[in-house]
Amino acid sequence: ASAFAQVSISIDTAKPGAVINKNVYGQFAEHLGTGIYEGLWVGPESKIPNTKGWRNDVVGALKELHVPLVRWPGGCFADEYHWRDGIGARKNRPVKVNTNWGGVPESNAVGTHEFFDLVEMLGADAYVNGNLGTGTPQESAEWVEYMTSTGKSTLAELRAKNGHPQPFKVAYFAIGNEAWGCGGNMKPAYYANLYNHYATFIKAPKDVRPKLIASGGNDYDTTWTDTLSKETRDTDGISFHYYTLPTDKWDKKGAAVGFPESEWYSTVSNTLRMEEHIKRNVAVLDKNDPQKKIGFYVDEWGTWYDVEAGTNPGFLFQRNTLRDAVVAALNFNIFHAHADRVRMTNIAQMVNVLQAMIITDKDKMLLTPTYHAYKMYVPFQDATSLPVTLSNNTTYGVNGRGVPGISASAARARDGKVYVALVNTNPHDATDVTLDLPGRGVSSVRGQVLTADAMDAHNTFDKPQAIKPAPFSASAAGGKMTIKVPAKAVMVVSVEG
Ligand code: AHR
Repeated sequence: ASAFAQVSISIDTAKPGAVINKNVYGQFAEHLGTGIYEGLWVGPESKIPNTKGWRNDVVGALKELHVPLVRWPGGCFADEYHWRDGIGARKNRPVKVNTNWGGVPESNAVGTHEFFDLVEMLGADAYVNGNLGTGTPQESAEWVEYMTSTGKSTLAELRAKNGHPQPFKVAYFAIGNEAWGCGGNMKPAYYANLYNHYATFIKAPKDVRPKLIASGGNDYDTTWTDTLSKETRDTDGISFHYYTLPTDKWDKKGAAVGFPESEWYSTVSNTLRMEEHIKRNVAVLDKNDPQKKIGFYVDEWGTWYDVEAGTNPGFLFQRNTLRDAVVAALNFNIFHAHADRVRMTNIAQMVNVLQAMIITDKDKMLLTPTYHAYKMYVPFQDATSLPVTLSNNTTYGVNGRGVPGISASAARARDGKVYVALVNTNPHDATDVTLDLPGRGVSSVRGQVLTADAMDAHNTFDKPQAIKPAPFSASAAGGKMTIKVPAKAVMVVSVEG
């Protein structure tokens, strides 16, 4: 490694910003590949230890992430999902074709009740994505009634007969997904009308009524956010999808492992576009909704690479390396900086699909670097963001793709402590970072650092602990602390005054 750069970070604890909603750390689990079936659900008859069909090992590991919210059943899958196929005795449920994802049979073994078993075990809230594309307002209205009704109704009785007399708590219900694409190839104004049509008939009483989400856009064009924030009624949030592709090309996205250094930089640089997307859309919301009633929900994000050779291309299985942990942490730092509007995000996806937390193989599982990043950032859930000012932040890169070396975020957590997250995007050089908390001073820091020798370091079933966080601590005299952040690293520390 060559000479260390020196970056200064000032954290103003006297000017607290918005609370970082814990739902920023939400997850997405779609009926896609082995994301649900095999990865999470094996069924109660399986030899793999499970509770009500859900794998004990995977659920146990996810619990350590304090997963606040799970979005289900899709994605594109949601717009062809009919909830009545997934209730009642499992042996009687119809087998459908998963047309979006590999054309494989969909057994409907996981339906509404099974999903709520999962979120209950995780202690998470439920985000149910409704079917606009091939459904009807009646079907959506009845699904919400089935899940939430507390009164005497045939649907509430059916729910009780199927094993759940108490209503389920549906925190969020989305009306369709990617209406501009797989959800129906619609124009924003047409979708806005349909949204209002569907929302009109969701009549759950106030105390059990889910918050409704309108499905928004996915690129630099803010027309979706503009139209939906003006035209839709009763919307808690407008969703947005943005994926990181190393090459920017959907027909050749780039490899998950063994990638060239140029794709390290392009991946970092493309990830940082998230901030521009948020800023542009938030500017539109600030104009149309100055009272900030509407949230901007990035309910799909993460890396999307070429699928692993030899796997079903419709299953979107990819490996997950140190680079993915860096991408996750960069996104977290961006979300924190916009916490007043970005009150929910959902990484795609929880297990075995795209940027997963966990990869399984039969009865084995491994934790990915992305899992470790989520775990390190747990203190930021419901913490109060603090403004950070970076100076002397050097830019690194190749082929004209310059990226800032250090990304930083700070917050006061619910335990009262100040936490600082630092990402060093430079794959070669460590960086000296001086922390300054004016008026307060820093005497020591303590936390964890995630790094490795290779840019594409990853865990395998032979070496499941190849990359994992290591403890980190340092102390200083004089109130200012200089931390050496290793090359290509994610670090989260608590700060003692
Ligand atoms: O996450 C995979 C897919 O990406 C989702 O189903 C869809 O909404 C998006 O295009």
